[in-house]
Amino acid sequence: MGRLRFAKDYNKARGHFYALDDVRQTLRTGGPTDPKSGPMPMACWSCKSPDVARVIDERGEDGYFEGKWARLGAEISNPIGCADCHDTRSDKFKNGEPELALTRPYVERAFEAIGKKFDEQSRLDKQASVCAQCHVEYYFTGPTKAVKSHGIWAPQ
Ligand code: HEC
Ligand code: HEC
Repeated sequence: MGRLRFAKDYNKARGHFYALDDVRQTLRTGGPTDPKSGPMPMACWSCKSPDVARVIDERGEDGYFEGKWARLGAEISNPIGCADCHDTRSDKFKNGEPELALTRPYVERAFEAIGKKFDEQSRLDKQASVCAQCHVEYYFTGPTKAVKSHGIWAPQ
């Protein structure tokens, strides 16, 4: 238990709107004072904000994941929202259609690996798969401590 960050602090679950506030305030992330201090990697933002998808678009996965959690903290400012689950830039979405999208490339790869490419999934599966971008078992791996999804929905 001692090595698990969850042993430091574990609070009541709350809704999406609070995800960013809660991860900033938990003792698990250790109150870093500069971009290089603190115990946790950038990966800790991954299920908290549509800004994660934006930063991965802008900098690539390595450019997002590398370094400590505080490094790009200033970029991550919006709580979980439309652009986590929808292709908000598509014409279809602008016309009121759902246009569900996976916005985390590591989840897209996990579904490909189990032969369930998102584009080929049924409408019902897509509805569940957008949730599985975050509500899934995962671990952090490799030199940048990038997120790797596994578990029921996306085993690898
Ligand atoms: C971008 C990541 C992300 C996506 C996508 C996501 N969630 Fe969440 N969800 C979270 C996080 C993080 C929390 C915990 C928030 C907190 O406690 O501060 C949460 C909390 C919840 C809770 C409250 C849990 C509780 O015990 O009170 C429910 C219910 C929920 N999510 C359902 C869904 C459903 C349904 C979907 C898909 C339509 C979904 N989520 C998609 C990240 C996500
Ligand atoms: C956690 C994931 C998630 C988030 C966040 C989210 N949506 Fe959705 N949204 C869904 C799912 C799943 C559906 C159902 C898609 C379907 O009908 O196949 C949906 C459906 C929709 C639809 C279609 C509604 C209809 O009646 O057909 C619209 C429009 C939409 N969302 C807009 C938004 C907007 C705007 C936001 C931000 C304020 C948002 N969504 C946030 C997952 C999400």
